[in-house]
Amino acid sequence: MSFPLHRYRRLRRSESLRAILRETSLAPSDFIAPLFVVPGAGVRQPVSSMPGVDRVSPELAAKDAKSLASLGVLSVILFGIPEEKDAVGTSSADPEGPVCRAVRAIKAESPKTVVMTDVCLCEYTDHGHCGVIEQDTVDNDATLPILAAEALAHAVAGADVVAPSDMMDGRVGAIRAALDKSGYRDVAVLAYAAKYASGFYGPFREAAESTPSFGDRRAYQMDPANVREAIKEVLSDVEEGADLVMVKPALAYLDVVRAAKEATNVPVACYNVSGEYAMVKAAAANGWIDGKRVTLEILTSMKRAGADLILTYHAKEAAEWLA
Ligand code: PBG
Repeated sequence: MSFPLHRYRRLRRSESLRAILRETSLAPSDFIAPLFVVPGAGVRQPVSSMPGVDRVSPELAAKDAKSLASLGVLSVILFGIPEEKDAVGTSSADPEGPVCRAVRAIKAESPKTVVMTDVCLCEYTDHGHCGVIEQDTVDNDATLPILAAEALAHAVAGADVVAPSDMMDGRVGAIRAALDKSGYRDVAVLAYAAKYASGFYGPFREAAESTPSFGDRRAYQMDPANVREAIKEVLSDVEEGADLVMVKPALAYLDVVRAAKEATNVPVACYNVSGEYAMVKAAAANGWIDGKRVTLEILTSMKRAGADLILTYHAKEAAEWLA
């Protein structure tokens, strides 16, 4: 019976009306830009499945971080592609590895950039799994000290936030304890709390050279069908000391973002992952969708679902569009 008394179109009539009534806004500071860092100097290699994304050496990562900061994108997250891989991911804690070098370079060149680092072993193990292998499975407890050492190396290099993405049980607590013991009390932990075993990571694995050489990650990453389990993960990561939590992927998991937001009072991030990015880029390149419009719509939907921060390969272009 509301019509004709209520006419919702009254408030949609002009762009100014729409602007003052908009419930969700996007700003460049909402975005965390992922950077893939390789050894060497002067290296910039495009990632073919992710148009617009490059793998860069540490000093170019610092340049990129600075130009992102000038656009208002105040945080980056670093992924390393090391020179050497072995069974236990030894190079993950190398203070001269690409991530630690990039942390120092970014801090020197762009001091206001918040530097986050991905903490995981999949880029550093020769088998590509996120932990050490014992009898054909990833050994949870044996992996924890290695992750803690990696996180500590990043903290020593100057990282503001370390972000474990391995999905071992207890890793947030192990990392928090290692940081505190060494005096890095102020380094925050962003837990990839609800990370799903997803088909959307394909392009990333090309960029990071982290495809598992056997099996898959379903015995440690979450089943895409589950949401109540995600809340269990979120709550225990917060209990173990996570300062922020993340849901990943994002687009097909907006209900999980909302549920995480309602279940906790720490900031919630979501990861607009490589496959989500690649789909938009491919469709836009074919002229099937308007890439800019769809990208901003997707990013808005993530904020609307409750994300406080969005890790996204669109960070730079979206910041330019929002300027
Ligand atoms: C694991 C990690 C992955 C991503 C971020 N951290 C890949 C995986 O779990 O296989 C994926 C990010 C993306 O697809 O953009 N260290």
